[in-house]
Amino acid sequence: MIIPILNEADIQKRLQERGRADAAASSYKAMYSSWLGGITRDPQYMFVPVDDHLVHRGDGVFEAIKFIKGQIYALTPHLERLHRSAGLIALEIPLDSERLTQTILQTIRASGLKTGMIRLYVSRGPGGFTTNPYDSLGSQLYIVITEFKPYAPNKYANGVKCGLSAIPVKEGFWANAKTCNYLPNVMMKKEAVDRGLDFTISLDESGFLAESSTENFALVNSRSELLIPSFTRTLRGITITRVMKLAEQLMQNGILKAVSERSLAQKEIANASEMFMIGTTLDVLPVVEFEGQKIGTGKPGPVARNLSEMIANDLKSGSDQTLSLLGDQ
Ligand SMILES: Cc1ncc(COP(=O)(O)O)c(C=O)c1O
Repeated sequence: MIIPILNEADIQKRLQERGRADAAASSYKAMYSSWLGGITRDPQYMFVPVDDHLVHRGDGVFEAIKFIKGQIYALTPHLERLHRSAGLIALEIPLDSERLTQTILQTIRASGLKTGMIRLYVSRGPGGFTTNPYDSLGSQLYIVITEFKPYAPNKYANGVKCGLSAIPVKEGFWANAKTCNYLPNVMMKKEAVDRGLDFTISLDESGFLAESSTENFALVNSRSELLIPSFTRTLRGITITRVMKLAEQLMQNGILKAVSERSLAQKEIANASEMFMIGTTLDVLPVVEFEGQKIGTGKPGPVARNLSEMIANDLKSGSDQTLSLLGDQ
């Protein structure tokens, strides 16, 4: 077998022939690349150089942010977390905050979408194949705008099934840096799919519950307390942080008695009246089963319903949680 050596024209031709007509690629609407210095709308050119340390070492940080009907949800806290994560691995974000926001807005506009996902990556950048970050020519920014694929409505109506993860939990330092080194998270998603579950939740060495692949979780106990696992071993999710704030309103009308973040033992799930997964793509998703055991009545409960409504209102309201795209058209 002779493998051809391709020139530029051959590569162009092969890319054209191959196309990217698969369902996933057809949902990628625009990509900004600081390496190319521009935006492409063609998924077949949405590339990252193979020697970018993001590719061969997972050396980079990322965020996934949604925009709904022309409003970017919680852009500021997402960008603050991006800066925090980058700081933890001494990675320079190549644009200042103002230019970063403008670049995000222009890439969204180029996508033509009013509702979608912003997938933002800051990489160590191209330069050699070592682990040495100083070999890089400079950090890069890649922003991909994709369609937003929400969870199926029946998952919200009926609730989802969870189990306990066998994947070792991350050290606190790594759990709190949203880096592109996400192999434990990948393996958690794989085990959930392999076991026919929607999610698994990891456990630390002391038997305390942590988080799921890309979601936080919370439960309501028999004393109507909303309990959130301490963020020492989990990523401080933007959505759960907002949920904790919104939940204070449920304390005023007596639906909840307390909201607290603390170490949560596995056995506390057995007495929970409600449980839910929380994150950017799913908002508040009720859990009705954990390791085959029913949670509460086995049906989504009132706290999940209330919190879902509050997040939905937050998304619509154009409050300080959102940035409108409309003013910048
Ligand atoms: C490990 C992990 N935990 C929790 C979350 C939920 O965070 P957020 O609400 O900011 O999406 C994410 C989000 O991607 C995550 O990757």
